[in-house]
Amino acid sequence: MFVLVGYASEHGATRQIAERVASLLLYEGVRAEARPMAEVGDADRYDAFVLGSAVRRRRWLQEGSRFVRRNRAVLAGRPVWLFSVGTARVRGGRLDTRGGARGGTGGKAPKAPGAPPARAEASPCATTASSPGS
Ligand SMILES: Cc1cc2nc3c(=O)[nH]c(=O)nc-3n(C[C@H](O)[C@H](O)[C@H](O)COP(=O)(O)O)c2cc1C
Repeated sequence: MFVLVGYASEHGATRQIAERVASLLLYEGVRAEARPMAEVGDADRYDAFVLGSAVRRRRWLQEGSRFVRRNRAVLAGRPVWLFSVGTARVRGGRLDTRGGARGGTGGKAPKAPGAPPARAEASPCATTASSPGS
């Protein structure tokens, strides 16, 4: 099993999350590598995919969406997990109105005085590749 942890990142938060995911997979004995999706031209060599993008104006970065579209046929036949990285809490998104973190994070998010950390949401997509941003 060889897993691609592909990322689209502008300022580095998504890249760091992807690298952490890849290192945890390696720690668990799963062969994995983190790479920018824009540089992956050989998707066919991976058995499974964890793909994440920073969110800009509620959409994935283009390089992430493009990767998914370009490799639709490969992704459709293999396990795919998607995650998005954004700051929904400070931008008035649904996390902002609920007063606490939802989904996979479990606990209540800290009320940081400064800029809060980036938030990642994961969506297990089984063997179906959805098209982010469409
Ligand atoms: C122009 C711009 C638009 C953004 N739009 C959103 C958004 O719609 N939703 C959101 O949750 N975060 C939004 N963000 C926050 C980024 O997704 C967040 O800073 C993220 O951590 C950046 O990831 P990166 O460091 O991998 O580039 C936006 C940031 C910028 C600069």
